[in-house]
Amino acid sequence: MNEMKIPEHIAIIMDGNGRWAKKLGFNRIFGHKNGIKAVRETVEICGEIGVKYLTLYAFSVENWNRPLDEIEALMLLLVEAVVKETPELNSNNVQLRAIGNLSTFPENVMVKLNQAIEFTSKNTGLVLTLALSYGSRWEITEAVKKIAAKAAAGEIEPESINENVIEQYLTTHGMPDPELIIRTSGEQRLSNFLLWQGAYSEFYFPAILWPDFRKNDLLEAIDEYRKRERRFGKTGEQIKQEKDLI
Ligand code: FPP
Repeated sequence: MNEMKIPEHIAIIMDGNGRWAKKLGFNRIFGHKNGIKAVRETVEICGEIGVKYLTLYAFSVENWNRPLDEIEALMLLLVEAVVKETPELNSNNVQLRAIGNLSTFPENVMVKLNQAIEFTSKNTGLVLTLALSYGSRWEITEAVKKIAAKAAAGEIEPESINENVIEQYLTTHGMPDPELIIRTSGEQRLSNFLLWQGAYSEFYFPAILWPDFRKNDLLEAIDEYRKRERRFGKTGEQIKQEKDLI
């Protein structure tokens, strides 16, 4: 594959676990379990083709409204997956991170997660970020609160607040914005995911349910992305002129 147009940052809304399980006559948790296989394949292929950042929407702020047994099962799965996969992630030079309102997560989950984050923190390959108890409105609200406190303390001039300042207070600080956001299962919504960071992202909504998502599906998404022209508000002619200059 032509490395020129591999996105540096891909973000995925892993949707359809429940429907996948229901179709097969199982409970929703079975769908989440099988979703982990898709996570593993996606991480592997991203590492293989040179994607630098992969961000996965694993648990949203709104997911706390699900039935308690499903929440508990998801937490358990998360801990098990993190513990089981960390050696493999580490040997593949993957750096694990987490973003979101992590203070709402159970302590046992956070202990295991933090151990895995610490263990892989020196790795220099793919940065795998799990969005957990994440919501963009929460994230932007937190950023506003922190900036307002600085302004009230006289540490920042309101006039000097610009997009770069706001970016510094987001949980994704330091990461490039995702060029490509994928949501599986055919739903075409962002559901409070990376609203700021996705301002110029390309969106791809395959019908496939997340547990069925495999390496080829990611390659197809990238192929589709490569066909699109990202204009950032410019005209097609301007983009062509810029390309001719390279
Ligand atoms: C959405 O499908 C999926 C989730 C809310 C959870 C995603 C979690 C995993 C894939 C497993 C753990 C992840 C990691 C990173 C170890 P849904 O339940 O909304 O499906 P539905 O729309 O068909 O009901």
